[in-house]
Amino acid sequence: MSIRLPFFRKKRKKLERIKHENTPEHIAIIMDGNGRWAKKKGLPRIAGHKEGMTVVQKIVRSAVKYDIKILTLFAFSTENWKRPKPEVDFLMRLPKEFLHIYLPEMIENNVRIDTIGDFDSLPPHTRKAIIHAKEQTKDNDGLLLNFAFNYGGRYDIMCAMKEIVRDVDEGKLTIDSVDEESFATYLNTKNIEDPDLLIRTSGEQRLSNFLLWQLAYTELLFTDVLWPDYNEELFGNAITEYQNRKRRYGGV
Ligand code: FPP
Repeated sequence: MSIRLPFFRKKRKKLERIKHENTPEHIAIIMDGNGRWAKKKGLPRIAGHKEGMTVVQKIVRSAVKYDIKILTLFAFSTENWKRPKPEVDFLMRLPKEFLHIYLPEMIENNVRIDTIGDFDSLPPHTRKAIIHAKEQTKDNDGLLLNFAFNYGGRYDIMCAMKEIVRDVDEGKLTIDSVDEESFATYLNTKNIEDPDLLIRTSGEQRLSNFLLWQLAYTELLFTDVLWPDYNEELFGNAITEYQNRKRRYGGV
């Protein structure tokens, strides 16, 4: 007896459509539009963040399938503290909730979890959940799922600059030896390559203080879709669009 699985077949076909050459190794995403998505549905803003959390896992699964090496997600910016306290508190609880549901699947899928941003200023319960996830996945060598949490691009560059000055003061470094390559080793992203592709959802076309140094030559892709409506197919289309672009890095 043959079992027909048309839905499954259709999904497989979509994934197979992606070429395997010239796949972006590092994709960064500004997950924007949770609030507007909730408002459109007459729901509180936090309902948008909650739905956004489920989309994170869908995109992580896709990234694993497409063999993406690094996925950096802007989950909380240094400016997001300005939001109403109940919303900030909710966002600070999200990592714990997300990891409670999805950490076993991450481990199963060989995903390594890491963060960039000012970790020490996070509430202890948020830090605890993230430290646990980092510890549990530290030996995985598949997708690096990098949450930018309490991250700001200017803050990143300023901290790097301060550390360089400190190292010069202590005689560990000479000013003349500082070049772009060595400067980058002082940034939060010191161990990872710059993003190849940046996706921003919700129709806004700006960087909002995300990875300012690291995005210098990144391909930018803006979509009107609100983050809670984003999906695997759109992510696949974004990869295909990247594959069709020609990167020149200032050359010809
Ligand atoms: C921006 O949308 C979104 C955020 C500030 C939070 C992003 C968080 C998630 C997508 C949830 C997943 C997080 C984890 C840690 C798993 P917005 O609120 O600014 O939307 P708006 O511009 O429509 O108001």
